[in-house]
Amino acid sequence: MSLTTIETKPVTRTPAYFETPSPAERMTTRVFERAKDVSATVAREIADLIRAKAACGEQCVLGLATGSTPTGVYDELVRLHREEGLSFANVVTFNLDEYWPMRPQELQSYHRFMREHLFDRVDIPAANTHIPDGTASEDDVRAMCDRYEQAIRAAGGIDLQLLGIGRTGHIGFNEPGSSRNCRTRVITLDRVTLKDAASDFFGEENVPTRAVTMGVGTILEAKRVVMLAFGEGKAPVVARAVQGPVTISVAASFLQEHANAQVYLDLAAAAELERCKAPWCSAAHALHWDDALARKAVIWLARTTKKAILKLTTEDYNEHHLQDLLALRGKAYDLNIMVFRDLQRSITGWPGGKPASRKRVGDTHRAGDELFPKRVLIFSPHPDDDVISMGGTLIRLVDQGHEVHVAYQTSGNIAVFDAEALRFLDFATDFNSAFGFDAAKTELMESDVAKALRAKRPGEVDAAAVQKLKGIIRRGEARAAGLYCGVTDEHLHFLDMPFYETGRVRKKPLGTDDIELVKSLLIRTERIACV
Ligand code: F6R
Repeated sequence: MSLTTIETKPVTRTPAYFETPSPAERMTTRVFERAKDVSATVAREIADLIRAKAACGEQCVLGLATGSTPTGVYDELVRLHREEGLSFANVVTFNLDEYWPMRPQELQSYHRFMREHLFDRVDIPAANTHIPDGTASEDDVRAMCDRYEQAIRAAGGIDLQLLGIGRTGHIGFNEPGSSRNCRTRVITLDRVTLKDAASDFFGEENVPTRAVTMGVGTILEAKRVVMLAFGEGKAPVVARAVQGPVTISVAASFLQEHANAQVYLDLAAAAELERCKAPWCSAAHALHWDDALARKAVIWLARTTKKAILKLTTEDYNEHHLQDLLALRGKAYDLNIMVFRDLQRSITGWPGGKPASRKRVGDTHRAGDELFPKRVLIFSPHPDDDVISMGGTLIRLVDQGHEVHVAYQTSGNIAVFDAEALRFLDFATDFNSAFGFDAAKTELMESDVAKALRAKRPGEVDAAAVQKLKGIIRRGEARAAGLYCGVTDEHLHFLDMPFYETGRVRKKPLGTDDIELVKSLLIRTERIACV
């Protein structure tokens, strides 16, 4: 037997369009497909820094952020601590901000956030962690801010500052209007920021209107700055920060003046950057024109020229950086019609497929048309997501003869207002007394629940009985909606997944019990077509 040697060449891959920066960007920016990959990369950088500092016998001073954005980084750091022995013994931390006033044990306190997400899960000495004091008095708050600045200086300055970005462009809580040199201080929160915090506080009216935040100047003094943003909600402000001019209207734009700042985005948050929105405008290398990119370009061209797709001309393509695409794909009209048909195919009045008996000449065959009618299972995270997000489709599926099931994954109890719970309990008491049921028991419950609800402060977790009552209210609403849409009661499945039942906005991680519930439903309603 002879052995053949195969010469292997390194595989060269054309970078995906979103991987290549465009000249419009004024900050070093990296885009990853998934937020998870960003978190892993940033956590790795932090871990390497902690280890490098430890190897020289030095402290590693980290500036930390709260909010939804950095939680993946914290989870990954905790994993590195548990599985790879990363020690935080030499780490000193300074958090960006805290609501003011705010007691550290409150649900929304950043002290509590940091303990739950990081500090209690690693070996960092408590004395090494610093967060602005939300309990500082009116008289002392300015001095507290000065002491915070001094503490940062005394620690030798921040080695790496982690940042999220708010929809107002804030970093820390430096709202529009914050100057380049501002320091740690009290700030009044922007209306948009109050709205964004409303769900954490169970209503905008409960959000403190002020906060203490490190200043832009404080942040810019960090030796390295890493800003993360995830999700389409951040895309417009990210584009302003990364591609726009440096302006006090977008505090994050000041990072353009930092010599060692880097922005990390997932694909959704990068959507408004030129490299994603219109990579053909500045691509230095040839783009890989697959159908998806061609479709994106044609839709962009129609929007930019404000013309219908079928009216786009050769000149439109040529004058808008799409010469390559046109040259590759032939005539403008061929491209137009390809994308037009593609879009047309994405619209249907038959969401469960079209039976052969209803097909007309020219109807295209879609995957799944063979099986009609279908058993359809709709997963609704809360009771109401089904009708709010796809009520029309749901009714169509029922009308067209499919067997429609809805699985409500959670009780949704957290969204029921206290007043609503009291109203239902009042009804139950009157109902029981009117029809001669044991009214005394309901009355007792009514007074207990009323007492508990009156004593409760905004954001506090409900007692188990109140949570249960609120869950029942939402079940009733879901049944009423099901009835309206024609989904029978036995086709509504209330899974009440346990991960949700914390009584708080923050949930437990998904566990095997949760997965089992979904699995057993799938088995029960076998041969399901999922929507
Ligand atoms: C948090 C902070 C804020 C957040 C920003 C984004 O300490 O200073 O600037 O980083 O509001 O919040 P999320 O990550 O919740 O979207």
